[in-house]
Amino acid sequence: MRETVQKNSQRPAEHSVTEAVRDYYGKTLQGSEDLQTDACCTLDSIPSHIKPIMAKIHPEVSGKYYGCGLVAPELLDGLRVLDLGSGSGQDCFVLSALVGERGSVIGVDMTDEQLQVANRHIEFHREQFGYRQANVSFRKGYIEKLDELGLPAQSIDVIVSNCVINLSPDKQSALQQAWRLLKPGGELYFSDVYADRRIPAELASDPVLYGECLAGALYWNDFINIAKQAGFADPRLVTDRPLVIANPGVREKVGQISFYSATYRLFKLESLEPACEDYGQAVVYRGSIANAEDAFTLDAHHRIVAGEAFPVCGNTYRMLKETRFAPHFEFKGDFSTHRGIFEGCGVSAPFGANRGTAGSSGCC
Ligand SMILES: C[S@@+](CC[C@H](N)C(=O)[O-])C[C@H]1O[C@@H](n2cnc3c(N)ncnc32)[C@H](O)[C@@H]1O
Repeated sequence: MRETVQKNSQRPAEHSVTEAVRDYYGKTLQGSEDLQTDACCTLDSIPSHIKPIMAKIHPEVSGKYYGCGLVAPELLDGLRVLDLGSGSGQDCFVLSALVGERGSVIGVDMTDEQLQVANRHIEFHREQFGYRQANVSFRKGYIEKLDELGLPAQSIDVIVSNCVINLSPDKQSALQQAWRLLKPGGELYFSDVYADRRIPAELASDPVLYGECLAGALYWNDFINIAKQAGFADPRLVTDRPLVIANPGVREKVGQISFYSATYRLFKLESLEPACEDYGQAVVYRGSIANAEDAFTLDAHHRIVAGEAFPVCGNTYRMLKETRFAPHFEFKGDFSTHRGIFEGCGVSAPFGANRGTAGSSGCC
């Protein structure tokens, strides 16, 4: 599939894409205000428990933040987290507070200028969070070549990424590498930019559109297929928002293409099925996850209110039972009796006005 997409759109050679992106983030951009569109600098509304942490981030770090979403899933305490394309380090430092002193965060980026900013402020944030030892480190590397970082396979609990995979010339490799590093039951939880159709070749080679996280954006259905090929059988859309392109020149160039910022969660679970199947199962949320006591939101289609039986398909059952979320749920039923496809499933566009009853994976 990747070959088809790349052949159709005739993407520039991988090394020239990488060099152009590195120049864009290392030299062209001096701060968030230099961006030509809001593709890489918009933020979902920040939850109240994250706000006090954000207030502690060093201004040089937040001034070079180019993310497009919030990558702070629940239950991170004590976990080992990896951030793909960590930039100036804002998400890593926020995650440093969320994983606590028993946890750790590694940021990977290919751009020296961004890494220098991040490294310069490790000590500042250690002091801000009152830790005896820093729990954040940054490494220079490529998200398509994570195996070159010396991290053992299956050694990471949660991988995050914020507005980076769209910039990769080899998105499939980045997802495969993430799969390799995740522990079974771990997840890739990441925000990125997607398009409602494939990007034509003439736009894909525009360095500003590429650097601004538009020209490299995947058509959402190509993303779903690439994710499945990497092993993530049931990608779940968590949030999505249309991107507003204020710059008239950029708007004219992209024409009818609509772009969305979306956060997906991809669980590393070998047992997931290609579709949502009905086994008559249900879960009851115990209300025991911090900052989500009333209801736990697994994804855009699963807001699970505490104390109420919530019918689930087999895949959702496993996403809760075979991951760090298990102690917070009571599980009803098993896989002994199959009742057909899970009701409410279908295939449709996942984002915005086109969103149907189906989720990003065509189910639930
Ligand atoms: C849009 S910025 C986002 C930075 C950061 N995640 C944030 O939210 O501020 C993209 C970052 O990804 C890095 N990057 C892009 N492609 C990469 C690749 N293939 N491997 C490693 N880093 C990459 C760039 O150097 C840049 O720092």
